[in-house]
This record gives sequence, C-alpha cells and structure tokens, in this order.
Amino acid sequence: MKEQKKILQEKIQLAKLGGGEDRITKQHEKGKLTARERVLLLLDGGSFEEIGMLVTHRTREFGMENQQFYGDGVVTGYGTVDGRPVYVFAQDFTVFGGSLSETHAEKICKIMDLAMKTGAPVIGLNDSGGARIQEGVRSLGGYADIFHRNVLSSGVVPQISAIMGPCAGGAVYSPAITDFTIMVEHTSYMFVTGPNVVKTVTNEIVTAEELGGASTHASKSGVTHLTAMNDLDCMKKLKQLLSYIPQNCEEKTPILAYDMGDEKRDQLESIIPESSNKPYEMKDVIKGIVDEESFFEIHENYADNIIVGFCRIAGRAVGVVANQPLSLAGCLDVDSSKKAARFTRFCDCFNIPLLVLVDVPGFLPGTDQEWNGIIVNGAKLLYALSEATVPKVTVITRKAYGGAYDVMNSKHIGADFNYAWPTAEIAVMGAKGASEIIFRKEIAESDDPEKTLAEKEHRYAELFANPYSASERGFIDEVIDPSDTRRKLIRAYAILEHKVEKLPQKKHGNIPL
Ligand code: HXC
Repeated sequence: MKEQKKILQEKIQLAKLGGGEDRITKQHEKGKLTARERVLLLLDGGSFEEIGMLVTHRTREFGMENQQFYGDGVVTGYGTVDGRPVYVFAQDFTVFGGSLSETHAEKICKIMDLAMKTGAPVIGLNDSGGARIQEGVRSLGGYADIFHRNVLSSGVVPQISAIMGPCAGGAVYSPAITDFTIMVEHTSYMFVTGPNVVKTVTNEIVTAEELGGASTHASKSGVTHLTAMNDLDCMKKLKQLLSYIPQNCEEKTPILAYDMGDEKRDQLESIIPESSNKPYEMKDVIKGIVDEESFFEIHENYADNIIVGFCRIAGRAVGVVANQPLSLAGCLDVDSSKKAARFTRFCDCFNIPLLVLVDVPGFLPGTDQEWNGIIVNGAKLLYALSEATVPKVTVITRKAYGGAYDVMNSKHIGADFNYAWPTAEIAVMGAKGASEIIFRKEIAESDDPEKTLAEKEHRYAELFANPYSASERGFIDEVIDPSDTRRKLIRAYAILEHKVEKLPQKKHGNIPL
C-alpha cells in the first residue's frame, strides 16, 4: 500500500510539472502563467477538483511513445467562482504547445458533457497551437467533437473562452462558437493561419500581433469581446463577467441585495444638448441609470456607434443596448447591427432582461454599407430584438428616426415598456430632410425658397420632432423626466420579473446570417 501511494505521489508530481521545469520557466518569462496557476487563480480557493490528471496520449508515431506527459497538455475539472459551480479546462502550452490530441479532446468533452448534465458554465483557458500535428485526423476528429458540443451547449449553458497564448486552427474555432471571448494583450494571438502561411500564400508580410493580436480582434474584427492586460486581469474580468450571467438557460442571474433610496438622478436632466445635432456621451446616460459602478462594457472598441454591456438596476442584472451619438451620430451600420444582435441573443438565451436606449438618426447610408449588406445585417438586429422574449424596455432619449425607430426595440416588435424623454424626436426622418422631399415643389416655386424651407421645417418639427404623436397612439407608454428614468426602470423590471412569452412552435427560426 505504501509503495502504491508513493507511485501515485510521483505521478501527481509529474502531472503538475507539465512539460517540465524549463518549459514552465519559459512560460513565465513570456509573462504567462501555467495552466494550473491560471485555474487556481480563477476558482475559489480550495474548490478545484481535477479530472483526468493521469491521462496520456495514445500516439505511437514520430517517436511520440517516448514523450508522454500526464494530463496530455490540458488541465480539466470543476470548482466554484464566487460560490457558483463552473467547469474549466486550461491548455498547457508546455506540453506540445498545448496542441489538441484525441485524448486531450476527450478530457475537454468529458467536462463539457458534465456541464450540460448539471447546468453550469464552461470556461476554456486556451493556449494551443491547434490540432496535434503528429496525430493527423484523430486530432481533427477531437476538435470536431468539441465543436459539436459547443453548438449543442449553445444557449443551454454559458460558454466563455479566454485566449491566453498563441492560438491557431481549431483553437480559434471553438472559441468563436462560444458566447464570449477575452484575449490577453501582447501574449495571445488568434488566427486560422499564422504569419508564415500568410506570407507563403498571399505574399503579405504581417506580424502576429497585427494579424491576430488582442487589439486587432478587439477593434478590427470584433472576434474578441474583451481584452485583459495580463493573466491576472483576465481572471478578474472572467469573474466579473460570470457575475452577470445565470448558471444555465433555466435559471436567472441572482439578484443582489439592494436598499431602495431616492432613485431620482438629477444629472440626467442636463445631458441632452440644446441643439439636436450636437453629440453627447450616451455612457453618461447609462451611468446615470444603473447601479453605481455596475456597467460592464462588452466589445468596447468595436463598432463604437453602439454600446452593449451588462449592468445592474436595483441589484438585477440587465443587458444594455444603446446608440452612441458620439460615433457616426449613433447611426446603425453593418458592424454595430451585428454586435448588438449577438449581444441581444445572448441575453435572451440566458433570461437577462434588456434595456434599449435610443438616439438613432437611421441606418448609415452609402455604397460601403450597401455593398457590405446593411440590409441583411440591419435585419439581424431587427430579428434579434423582435424574437427576444425576456423583459424588454426602451427609453428614447432623442432621435428615433425611420426604420431604426422600428428596429430599436419599438413597441411594435414586442417591447414591454417604451418610455421617451421630452427631448425625443420620433419621425420618419429629420425635419429638414423630410421638408425637402415632401415640399420640394412648393419650396422651389416660392419667392424665397430658403424661408419657405425653414417654415416647412419648423412645422414638420412641431408635428413630429417630439414624443407626443407616438404617445397619442400608445407607441410610447409614458413621456418621463430624465431624472425619473431609474425609478421607472426599477419598477418596470420588477413587474416584468415573471414575464412569460412563448414564440410560435418551430424547429428554429432562420435569422438572416
Ligand atoms: C504539435 C505543436 C503544435 C501542433 C506547436 N507545437 N503547435 N506540436 N502540434 N499543432 C509544439 C512545437 O513543435 C514546439 O515544440 C512547441 O509546441 C512550442 O511551439 P513553438 O512553435 O516553439 O512556439 P511559438 O513560437 O510560440 O509558436 C506558437 C504557434 C506555432 C504560433 C502556435 O507553434 C504554430 O504555428 N504551430 C502550428 C499551428 C498550426 O498550424 N496548427 C494546426 C492547425 S490545424 P518543441 O518541442 O519544439 O518545443 C487545426 C485544424 C482544426 O487546428 C480544425 C479547424 C476547423
């Protein structure tokens, strides 16, 4: 028995060493923690239970039979974050570059299956060169097994991917299917093919950072939702993100204790500028509405003409979608529509109520937008908001023009409560553009076209550049003082807590992808 125990101790020791001390030192020199260190940082102290620590690969080609490492390049198991169960896998770059073998894949699949059975999030800490080249199709099959589970788990349990090293091939496709991706700055990359292959195929010379670094994917491609300064910051942000999310699609995010006070927020009264063409910071509106320090922005540097993120309102987790007048005057374009649609669908999957803040002059015009498919991409947001059955509340702060009025959670597509500030302008288009079209002849034939245009503009603005015409028809439930917005929303989400809305029975819809 003593001998057996000794053997076990040795095996555990070896497993903890991964690819060996030298390689761990190398990992640290790059500014990266090891797989095991990352897991322990993420989870509550003492909560980690490892599964499959002594698994080894089955490859016998290329001298691989002499290179066995316990765990086979991935640490898997479960534990808790802030007391709530999660499953986690962390790839170990010190073992064959964290590459995915058949057995490595089996370990990941095992915890994904357990997560589905027990209804808990899966967090992947990715640091992998993709499919293990020595294993050929067996490793490709392993990836496909993971992809299939990613898809089946989508919308059932939250899936979050941290990219914590150079990730290529399959190591980027699995994260792409998951709900959120966070990349560590300067030590992580994501690409389907690296700079060398790019050079061979296209003659393009590009660095790994330019091709697939954190800032590239956070701003240009939108592949990553969040970035972190380093591994520590990454774990902090993962925990923060998890705090807004329920365990699975059958549950709701726990409501934090909140003591109700005077919920008036006077600072909201002075945010909208006098001139309707002057921009302002929509994040000031968000901050004025939500619980202090609770706004957690997603996709901050991508398509910044729309803002998405989580917040809390009287302790309740809420997803915010808001036009940003500071960028492209808050117009909807291809990227912002995709960004907001995906966020909306995440919230809807996981029972997180939505708040839509509207100041939108319309869809962005031009050949670039039309040729890149603003029609189908804009339709994604329309589809996503229309389909969402979670509590949906809208506040129009200023412009709600044209098709964008319909899209941005109008009453017509199923919003539960629609509020407008007195500064709201709800119309087919701006007063000037509208007058130029409908009074074109009259203006052209008048003695003083400029004066006539101004008069027509004034008349049109009087009629439509306000929230009252929409209120008279019930499209707006109430015109509210900005300072009263938070109080109204607290009550709205409380009364909507038990909202039940079912979509017509179907296999699934066909969102215009
Ligand atoms: C086996 C691998 C490996 C892999 C890296 N290694 N990737 N071993 N299979 N896929 C090994 C290296 O041989 C090396 O071993 C060690 O890991 C560290 O790798 P380095 O190259 O020294 O590290 P670095 O310079 O940081 O570069 C990391 C990297 C690069 C960018 C990930 O290794 C790389 O380009 N790897 C190949 C990526 C790739 O093409 N993967 C297959 C994708 S196909 P030693 O012993 O020398 O230290 C795929 C298909 C899935 O994934 C399906 C998708 C739909």
